[in-house]
Amino acid sequence: MSEPREAAAPIVGQDHRPTAGIGAPIPRHDGRAKVTGEAKYAGEEVPPGTLHAMVVASSIARGRLTGLDARNALAVPGVLRVLTHRDVPKLGPASVLPFGQSHLPMQSAEIHYEGEPLALVLAETLEAATEGAARLRPTYERIRHTTFEDGREVVPPGGSEGNGFAILEIDAQKGEVEAAFENAAAAIDETYMTPCRHHNVMEPPATVAEWRGDTLDVHDATQWTYGVRYGLSAVFGIPPENVHVRCPYTGGGFGSKGTVWPHQVLAALGARLTGRPVKLALGRAGCFTGCGYQPMMRSRVRVAADRDGALRAVVHETASLTSQFDDYVEFGNAGARGLYATPALLVRTRVVKADVSTPTAMRAPHEGPGMFAFESAMDELAVQLDVDPLELRLRNHADADPLSGKPFSSKKLREAYAEAARRFGWSRRPRAPRAMRDGEKLIGWGMASAIMGANRMAANARVRFAADGAVTVEAGCQEIGNGAATVLPQIAAEVLGIPAERIELRRGDTSLPETGGTFGSSTTMCVGSAVADAAEKLKAKVATLAAASGAGGKSGAVPPERWGAILGELGVAEVVAEGAFAPDGAPFDLNGSRSRYAILTWGAVFVEMEVDEALGLARMRRCVAGYSVGRIVNPRTARSQVIGGIIWGYGRAMLEESVMDRRHGRFLSKNLSGVMLPVNADIPRDIDVFFVDEHDEHASKIGARGVGEVGEVGVAAAIANALYHATGKRIRKLPVHVEDLLA
Ligand code: MOS
Repeated sequence: MSEPREAAAPIVGQDHRPTAGIGAPIPRHDGRAKVTGEAKYAGEEVPPGTLHAMVVASSIARGRLTGLDARNALAVPGVLRVLTHRDVPKLGPASVLPFGQSHLPMQSAEIHYEGEPLALVLAETLEAATEGAARLRPTYERIRHTTFEDGREVVPPGGSEGNGFAILEIDAQKGEVEAAFENAAAAIDETYMTPCRHHNVMEPPATVAEWRGDTLDVHDATQWTYGVRYGLSAVFGIPPENVHVRCPYTGGGFGSKGTVWPHQVLAALGARLTGRPVKLALGRAGCFTGCGYQPMMRSRVRVAADRDGALRAVVHETASLTSQFDDYVEFGNAGARGLYATPALLVRTRVVKADVSTPTAMRAPHEGPGMFAFESAMDELAVQLDVDPLELRLRNHADADPLSGKPFSSKKLREAYAEAARRFGWSRRPRAPRAMRDGEKLIGWGMASAIMGANRMAANARVRFAADGAVTVEAGCQEIGNGAATVLPQIAAEVLGIPAERIELRRGDTSLPETGGTFGSSTTMCVGSAVADAAEKLKAKVATLAAASGAGGKSGAVPPERWGAILGELGVAEVVAEGAFAPDGAPFDLNGSRSRYAILTWGAVFVEMEVDEALGLARMRRCVAGYSVGRIVNPRTARSQVIGGIIWGYGRAMLEESVMDRRHGRFLSKNLSGVMLPVNADIPRDIDVFFVDEHDEHASKIGARGVGEVGEVGVAAAIANALYHATGKRIRKLPVHVEDLLA
């Protein structure tokens, strides 16, 4: 098989060739296990005697369950039990984080959202559970429900009064905003809409739970084994150590497996009440009601500028959908807060309460939807001022954090703009729209900046060196496709001087050192720094042993090839060292708030779109994108992450939308038929990704920031801006529809 073209992204400005450790483009360590089926996922772990569970979910958005005759299901051969709210003990409490929603299942007859679990059918086979569930016919008393369109807009509680979602200030301001608009030479005031979307992971969530006395064993499809431990320990009132959660492979998550949802509770509950292991797999339909979604968001963006394009004020106000019981906040205003220098800025975050389940983070939450609005508005400002869109960004480049005034830990966005523009050929762009054609098709070039927050979370790791030469890295985090199984060994390899291919990662297990969840683009930076710390300590321990045995002189510095022999001589079977990462001494830090520096990631995205106005069809022809994200541990897996993000952004722009039927308060989709997602045929071969060489010593020990999500940010705006350049039509509501582009 031929090597894919440019498998590793170039690191622009790098003056050395990395070897087998940090910086080496080594292929995915777990690739073979995944494509051969050797990798085992949670739902495949079925102990003998396992019962299969099926959820019966509410088909109404608000009301009461008035009847549900379990006898219909129990008549099916193999159905053992039907649990309803009458059988379920009072659970709780469920606090947001580790839970995705605080409302627990089957605690009363009240119905709060479509898809709320009403009953759990437990059977000897999946077929019997499915048939039993299908025979239950719940009856309801309906209460009029509300949707985004008629829901109440409220100020979500912030800070310590919030319920775990208020990670940033709800409102923030600096300078005289309104005065700036009064005197501005140019101003934009527009409203933008982004839709609800579901994560649509390849591996739908599945949980296998088994009790042994007062301890609970769980195989779960999760992004956060420790979160599942804490969540289940809280609702069942047992110590956290009594919950053992395993998940060595996670088949995609994008946020939907970041927290605990009702199905994990129900699986454990079913197992407790029957005394048998229980497997509960959500299935595709369950993915549309059971594990969160990205909330729709309305953004009003106002920008004011001088004649020469210098910003005078930026304002970004958002309102996003949330449930009646939680205030999941989509902070859409990262661009206004942090991207450009401005004397005045105002951000306001609101939520709209409706009868829905609690939304959740979805790959590049906050920045993703918000930056469509903000970077579209910047493009509109460039058009009004008749300046080049890149020139407008450069003129307003922020050299310090606009809101806090703090210096950036590291920021090479200027380099990313310059190199991306050069590779794209941006200087040849005609200013006016509708100026480029290829046959019948209109061609447009658009660009946008990217900004993404940096979640630094405490992490622990362990490194083992055995006398037989085996090297193992251990951490509780997940391999979700992010490349953890590849890059964490590379980090140990760099420190130890042992080839990464010889180092195994043991992961995804609460018996291993605790890490944060595998989300927020944080794993390489945080767990990787803990791995580097552990590897350094291991190396020191080996040196001490070597020196004691008379090898390597006083320092005990011995090449790793000899370590095994030295341990053998000493009769030491294994050397083990523990390492940790704590962001500026704390368990958690967002965007460097605990640091003297503002810590964020950056990018520049350029796209070429073609539009057929006769058919209303658009295609992306090519994309060039450059990123300033700190040190790159593996330019192959990092490139793959960013390309995945760009495709995710293409989906946001052109295809994805979970439509809610307002009359019934339910999402229309219950399977993937009719759900528009990007496929290979939608995506050009020509996606050119690079990174700017960087070592961010303030962000993390290893110099890395985060790569997982920033690739998504700005893509939808760059596409919409290119569509404007192609057609002269400004699209302010995603996804782009055929009728938006028809002549
Ligand atoms: Mo993600 S939304 O950090 O899984």
